[in-house]
Amino acid sequence: MLVLGIETSCDETALALVADGRQVLGTQVVSSLKAHQRFGGVVPEIASRVHVEVITAELELLLSHCRVAPGQIDRIAVTRGPGLAGALSVGVAAARVLGLVWGKPVFGVNHLQAHLYAATMGTDAFTHRDPMIGLAISGGHTAIIRMEGLKSFELLGQTRDDAVGEAFDKVAKLLGLGFPGGPEIQRVSAQGNPKAFSFSVPKIKSGTPYDFSLSGIKTAVLYKVREYQKGVSGQGSGVSSLGSELTKPYTLNPEFVADMAASFQYSIVEEVAAKVLKACRNFQIRRLAVGGGVIANACLRERLQAVCAQEQVALAIPDMALCTDNGAMVAGLGEHLDAAASNACAVEPNLPVGMN
Ligand code: KG4
Ligand code: ZN
Repeated sequence: MLVLGIETSCDETALALVADGRQVLGTQVVSSLKAHQRFGGVVPEIASRVHVEVITAELELLLSHCRVAPGQIDRIAVTRGPGLAGALSVGVAAARVLGLVWGKPVFGVNHLQAHLYAATMGTDAFTHRDPMIGLAISGGHTAIIRMEGLKSFELLGQTRDDAVGEAFDKVAKLLGLGFPGGPEIQRVSAQGNPKAFSFSVPKIKSGTPYDFSLSGIKTAVLYKVREYQKGVSGQGSGVSSLGSELTKPYTLNPEFVADMAASFQYSIVEEVAAKVLKACRNFQIRRLAVGGGVIANACLRERLQAVCAQEQVALAIPDMALCTDNGAMVAGLGEHLDAAASNACAVEPNLPVGMN
């Protein structure tokens, strides 16, 4: 089967053609990242506008690069949630129009499930029926999911406050680094000492043992920055509210920034690895699939590889090109959806895990 995948849930307008659920014939991605940079985060209206501006040209490029005619495509898969309402609407509208004009069925896809599917695309060790623990970690979501292949999804835990990627983005901003923060934190961490500062992630008293709370670690970084500034200048930062300090660009010593970034990254990686392994152990599941932008992080990839090898858990993580938002994961998952689900693609910004 040949599937066209369309992904516009956030700031990437991404399309791909995928054969048999895993052979990527071609991809196109345009990111509106630069337009958001000066705001320090994604501005929904800008993201939607860029999707509208570029999606048609991207489709034409994709079809011509792959030398595929619309008649050869069997179905269209499109992300319908979770994500930004306006941004999702552009992709879904495009998919619906193409479905009508080309006479092809259109399938709505869950963005988080597509991220997890991307993890399994490159491996034969995970069939689409196996029980596995899924970890979805992106800029907008953090979730640990117990999965029976692609069929059943039970949400075991999620973040109470910041998503993992969001924590990277906010701490990067606090350290005067660029957006998105994840790659920046990784870059400067290479020069830093991960044990220079110790950040403990608070224990969550209620809820499930698989929930995350990451805003405390961000506040701890803020206090360390404040302390450091006091030490350097001999006075306080002069800014009283946490919110305004988080948006204030600092000029900090690069060594201090590298140590802070490395220590923050280390704490987050340890926390994430401990939580997913606990889920694998408690449910006696020996397969772990990890998807979402944050799994591009080299330190996290290495740590998960090491602990999974130790515990004899098979680990599936995506190729680097399939970590952040892309059309291939949407097309790949779209291949496996029941024909009966065609044309169910209403936009749902809060689409829960388990629903396509
Ligand atoms: O999956 P994604 O592209 O978009 C969402 O669905 O949110 O994930 C984007 C997130 C951002 O927060 C970004 O900082 C993070 O993924 N990210 C990273 C790295 N590359 C991207 N976080 C840590 N280390 C990285 N190398
Ligand atoms: Zn994503």
